[in-house]
Amino acid sequence: MNMNFVVPCLMGLESLIADELKELGAEDVRCENARVFFSGDEHILARANICLRHAERVQIVVGTFIAKTFEELFQGTKALPWEDWILKDDEFPIKGGYSRNSALFSISDCQSIIKKAIVERLKEKYKLPWFNETGNKYAIEFSIMKDEVTLTIDTSGAGLHKRGYRLKANDAPIKETLAASLCTLARLRPYHTLYDPMCGSGTILIEGAMKALNIAPGISRTFAAEKFSQIDPKVWAEERTRAQDLINFDFEFHAYGSDIDANAIELAKENARRAGVEKRIDFEVLDLKDWVHKSEKGTVICNPPYGERLLDINAANDLYKLMGQKFQSERGWAYYAISPSEEFEKYFGKKADKRRKLYNGMIKCQVYMYFK
Ligand SMILES: C[S@@+](CC[C@H](N)C(=O)[O-])C[C@H]1O[C@@H](n2cnc3c(N)ncnc32)[C@H](O)[C@@H]1O
Repeated sequence: MNMNFVVPCLMGLESLIADELKELGAEDVRCENARVFFSGDEHILARANICLRHAERVQIVVGTFIAKTFEELFQGTKALPWEDWILKDDEFPIKGGYSRNSALFSISDCQSIIKKAIVERLKEKYKLPWFNETGNKYAIEFSIMKDEVTLTIDTSGAGLHKRGYRLKANDAPIKETLAASLCTLARLRPYHTLYDPMCGSGTILIEGAMKALNIAPGISRTFAAEKFSQIDPKVWAEERTRAQDLINFDFEFHAYGSDIDANAIELAKENARRAGVEKRIDFEVLDLKDWVHKSEKGTVICNPPYGERLLDINAANDLYKLMGQKFQSERGWAYYAISPSEEFEKYFGKKADKRRKLYNGMIKCQVYMYFK
């Protein structure tokens, strides 16, 4: 069964996800702002959920059409083949949506019109007056961009950033998908040594280790579409086996994590253990001012405190200054820091060799890259 899909993502990560999807065998991969479209079969659906490192979720595109009025939204929605997915007992909540540069902008009105239209369609198809919605869950979302409506069914359930290894979070953890993206942008390889001297709960190091050892991020969790009656459970089993077979513990990858906060280090150790990479990461409680290299070459990736969230701005700036002193350009060393501060380079004391704009949730950040 060939299907169209869309993957919503953090802004700035579209091209990384497009590359991942092509590698996974997806077809017709196309990027838009904060989302990537592609097509494929059930195996690609399962593989994308299990393997994508940088994406937020995988949704089936049920249809797209133009709507400038509520009537057009109703008729366009009702015309789509919802019965292909939703059986007569299934639950089909309209989870949410957004509208940009479009005539229809009231999200709650759109939500109830879409629900009504699907109910009407299914009433006619199943010859039923109402639906109990006690069966499998098919969560529907919509987007309206320049009057083009896209209606989707979610296949992921919990967001893909939820890998399953993080039980508790510390004060300001970086999202797993963003941490994985930093490792990809830093071109982390299985033979590299990775450092995060402000590692908090260890997300960057854990994501780095999983990437280096080719551990699929979703290998230990479940997905909403595993309950879909249209998808043979064999597909999921085969894709999990495929992902399992691709794990390679022969790689010599090693990482070092430190943080001034002892509680964060305890949490990081526990998270690494749950992710199955604890043997690849050494953690210690250490102030950045005492940080030293433990290998000849290395890649340092970190997200220092942002000032507005953890420390006051001055303390954050002092830390950027200290980073500049510690992260000296040396053969075999590269440094990557994500920060919302426009003045990062000033305090760091050196212009970055490259910068890349990324969003940490709603916060506009830059990845400052030093590799020369
Ligand atoms: C934004 S958090 C990093 C979050 C981390 N990436 C995670 O996934 O949990 C910044 C971290 O820097 C640490 N930190 C602040 N000042 C430090 C210093 N002088 N030396 C080492 N770590 C420091 C904080 O304890 C905090 O855990």
